[in-house]
Amino acid sequence: MSKLRIENLTKRYGSTLAINGVSLDIRDHEFLVLLGPSGCGKTSTLRCIAGLETPDEGTIFVDEMDVTDLPTRDRDVAMVFQSYALYPHMTIYENLAFPLRTRHMTKDDIASRIKEVGELLRIADLLQRKPKQLSGGEAQRVALGRAIIREPKAFLMDEPLSNLDAILRLYMRAELKKLQKELGTTTIYVTHDQAEALTMAERVAIMNHGALQQVADPKTIYERPSTRFVAGFIGNPPMNLLDCEVVSQDDDHAMLEFSDFKCRLPLHGMDDTKSIDGKKVFGIRPEHIIVSKTQNSGVQGEIYVVEPLGSEVIIDVKVGNSIMKVKSVQFEGSPGEKLWLEFPEKKIHLFDVSAQ
Ligand SMILES: Nc1ncnc2c1ncn2[C@@H]1O[C@H](COP(=O)(O)OP(=O)(O)OP(=O)(O)O)[C@@H](O)[C@H]1O
Ligand SMILES: [Mg+2]
Repeated sequence: MSKLRIENLTKRYGSTLAINGVSLDIRDHEFLVLLGPSGCGKTSTLRCIAGLETPDEGTIFVDEMDVTDLPTRDRDVAMVFQSYALYPHMTIYENLAFPLRTRHMTKDDIASRIKEVGELLRIADLLQRKPKQLSGGEAQRVALGRAIIREPKAFLMDEPLSNLDAILRLYMRAELKKLQKELGTTTIYVTHDQAEALTMAERVAIMNHGALQQVADPKTIYERPSTRFVAGFIGNPPMNLLDCEVVSQDDDHAMLEFSDFKCRLPLHGMDDTKSIDGKKVFGIRPEHIIVSKTQNSGVQGEIYVVEPLGSEVIIDVKVGNSIMKVKSVQFEGSPGEKLWLEFPEKKIHLFDVSAQ
């Protein structure tokens, strides 16, 4: 069993507040992805959990044991970095043996453990090479091997695939997910790549400016983002977000006034209609907008630019002075053409202006 718990973690570097009161529970066997933009505090959080950084406030528990003041080696967690941090002068075998030797394992036990991990990660043929004689993917597997080999309570992985090219990255993403399932080791995986987060995670924890924004499974994060930050960060392209004001409301419709157009919004699909008044942020995902070249009850717009992506197309539509992105499977059109956009009621999100 190995659970991790962080309570009210805070870390400052001089005047920079890198982590701002983060509390998070990571379940036994869980693959949790910590996602957020550059500088939001992901690496700092991992380094605090690993014991490589001292938090200013907060407590870190591994299996209900307070490890906040324990040195790294006594926490029994293994960190995998973006740069593989293999010892260049040692062979792969020696690199793998190193964490075991420091634990005083016998030579025979070390050899059999390396054999096991070598087979698991398909690096058994590479053991006599030096790190510089490996491809990126091989070096990555060795780095994982070094974390796995001593069977830690948890893996802390900081963008471990970011040095790989796009194709190898996709391949390693799937491999790593499968491996984590097989080993069942509780894992926190840091990335700023939302596709990586949504495809790999059991739960995603989204951070911004040192604070947690939402912690949920990928489906919930996509379908019910709790803040406008999450809505605008997830999705490719992310959700369209426009300021609006709810100016009138009857039993089943609300009138939304945008800076230069209006939209009548049916209310029966919304979760909580009572709170719909005043200034709001209207959100709809590009893939949920229905686009039509014939006039309908939707909002009128004009094609600004069309971006074909092979299997689908992104249409930038000018509505008033705003640009809305629409994702469609099949569409042909040219800039300046008029079209009409419909927003299916169940796909509309309204966020509070104050929520970040
Ligand atoms: N050793 C340090 N000294 C001073 N400031 C630091 C230090 N390490 C991190 N910071 C600052 O703390 C904030 C959080 O940094 P952190 O490295 O945790 O971000 P990150 O989310 O991992 O970003 P990235 O995706 O770019 O790796 C940033 O503003 C960064 O500049
Ligand atoms: Mg980082």
